[in-house]
Amino acid sequence: MKFDTPAGRNPIDQLKVVGKPTDRIDGKFKTTGTAPYAYERHDVAPNAAYGYVVGAGIAKGRIASMDLAAAKSAPGVITIVTADTAGPLGKGDMNTAKLLGGPAVDHYHQAIALVVAETFEQARAAAAMIRVDYARDKGRFDLDTALKTAPLKGDSSGEGSAASPVDRVGDFEKAFAAAPVKLDARYATPDQSHAMMEPHASIASWQGDKLTLWTSNQMIAWGKGDVAKTLGIPKDNVRLISPYIGGGFGGKLFVRADAVLAALGARQAGRPVKVTLQRPLMINNATHRPATRQRIRLGAGKDGKLTAIAHESGSGDLPGGGPETAVSQTKLLYAGANRLTSMRLAVLDLPEGNAMRAPGEAPGLMALEIAMDEMAEKLGMDPVEFRIINDTQVDPEKPERKFSQRQLVECLRIGADTFGWARRKATPRSMRDGRWLVGMGVAAGFRNNITMKSAARVGIDKKGVVTVATDMTDIGTGSYTIIAQTAAEMMGVPLDKVVVLLGDSSFPVAAGSGGQWGANSSTAGVYAACMKLRETVAQKLGFNSADVEFADGKVRAGNRSVSLAEAAGDQGISAEDAIEFGDLAKKAQQSTFAGHFVEAAVDAYTGEIRIRRMLAVCAAGRILNPKSARSQVIGAMTMGVGAALMEELAVDTRFGFFVNHDLASYEVPVHADIPHQEVIFLDEVDPMSSPMKAKGVGELGLCGVGAAIANAIYNATGVRVREYPVTLDKII
Ligand code: MOS
Repeated sequence: MKFDTPAGRNPIDQLKVVGKPTDRIDGKFKTTGTAPYAYERHDVAPNAAYGYVVGAGIAKGRIASMDLAAAKSAPGVITIVTADTAGPLGKGDMNTAKLLGGPAVDHYHQAIALVVAETFEQARAAAAMIRVDYARDKGRFDLDTALKTAPLKGDSSGEGSAASPVDRVGDFEKAFAAAPVKLDARYATPDQSHAMMEPHASIASWQGDKLTLWTSNQMIAWGKGDVAKTLGIPKDNVRLISPYIGGGFGGKLFVRADAVLAALGARQAGRPVKVTLQRPLMINNATHRPATRQRIRLGAGKDGKLTAIAHESGSGDLPGGGPETAVSQTKLLYAGANRLTSMRLAVLDLPEGNAMRAPGEAPGLMALEIAMDEMAEKLGMDPVEFRIINDTQVDPEKPERKFSQRQLVECLRIGADTFGWARRKATPRSMRDGRWLVGMGVAAGFRNNITMKSAARVGIDKKGVVTVATDMTDIGTGSYTIIAQTAAEMMGVPLDKVVVLLGDSSFPVAAGSGGQWGANSSTAGVYAACMKLRETVAQKLGFNSADVEFADGKVRAGNRSVSLAEAAGDQGISAEDAIEFGDLAKKAQQSTFAGHFVEAAVDAYTGEIRIRRMLAVCAAGRILNPKSARSQVIGAMTMGVGAALMEELAVDTRFGFFVNHDLASYEVPVHADIPHQEVIFLDEVDPMSSPMKAKGVGELGLCGVGAAIANAIYNATGVRVREYPVTLDKII
């Protein structure tokens, strides 16, 4: 089904099931420990051997020699995979560095060997017996140094902007020089880790030349392609199965070493092999969100209207990697006639940087929305009002392009009312609660809405049960549930008559879980398949498909009514289709918006920071399931607390690695850190986004939170911290 005209009224608009707050159907499996994760699939591979990954002990250079003798003869060892035994390996499209290094080493903890043994303990013990001598090269590990000579880089991820490394509208320099009120400030965000609960993990099993991988992966079709490419085997010989995922946050968008090494280990061992990236390896072996250095210049008239906006960001990555696109939101968020955005990309020999939840916008807004707070103060304006008067209803770079929906102003106004913003005192350090300095902060949230082709197969069996199969994934987001709601609505059955099968590359290719496109695109794919199935059923029954109705487990036309079970017959009936997006997204800018409000308290004597209240008001199209959407947003707000106050990969610039490589030293918020959180979804349907009229919220919930917290801390203390995380040493 081609989606190229705005959606009219359709069966989803009945909202009998869609739009209702619904418990996650996988929730009981996850909370009772009965949802099997990849590493736990003893059922499919009871004889699996254990692989233990050896990570490189240097950041850059070569393996001079590797002595495997002791490890090979250690108890229980079956085989050892190295670059020598693996044969020529390719590289996946989505990987910057090879997943098995040697003799060249590209980054610290790049995998250089896999020890396969009967038990995990035996594999680990043998791995410790491998002796590696390295020839170490000098690497580039310091971002600030590397940025001094780094070239400008076009934003290859943004549509149509790749051509020019500096995007300009009007004459920024002239307007900035002439502006009566201006700000020129620099901000820094650190390297961050996804730090998901379930580490990367895979079980590999070969049947002849066919490979099956039970793995933990957000994007099944990308993964299948990249495994095939890496191993140099036909795509059709690879099957990925990933029904349950214990968190991804972008870290599992791409196939990682666990999958490739499990496959190589299983081939060498002649039996299934399971591999997880040990927690201490996760940080340096897998990907991370790259640190940024950002400069923002804002110029405004005395009336508070922005006349000049410049946002320049620098980040680093391994050779061949990409920039953190931290300026993307600045192109679209506020009006202003003269604009400049650019990105610089330095080459670093640190581990591979890549997408982490809301790549670009998350760190970009951490800077931009502090700058907006600073500018409001310079203007003597309320920061909510300052944002509102600089709202735009068109793409500021292409004014002929409108936003399909844009309710940023409503998010901010409703948020301010609900939060009690009027009680805030503009002068810092003027609200106090005993020893606590109290402050309130606000930030705008922005994240684009991307649409992706998505397919599904829907069938009805002789009992009237509707089964959906698609390779879409559920990374804890609620995909199972909204897909079931969609199928139930479309086929006129209750939720408990729907079975959803996800995360298997033998199913039709879906949008996958990434870029907050999953909810809208994958349900739209299910919508397309259901439309086709409705037609197929109508045809089979000889009903006129124009006046057919699906409700109460029956299909009706005029005074004829047949149960779905009967319509399906003994053989069952099914249909497959995909939603394919035309150029509607080009005609109107599709984005999601939020207003984030935070109350923070800072101990006047120790600098201890406590978040007291948080509110997010979101405008993100139709909310398919307010319960799981709220969970996504409060989870993202929690992640925003981590980004603002805790998360930082500490770079060892001598040896080139992230020092704090476990969850004890890479701090993320725990329950006690999280205060009262409230989420409000504005009524919105976006007929330009898909037949579902929905958009994404999973990343939006994070975008802007960090700055709202930093702004609240400023309001409490009068200390402006422009370098994240905002830790107490930066305040006292
Ligand atoms: Mo998201 S960083 O595209 O999983």
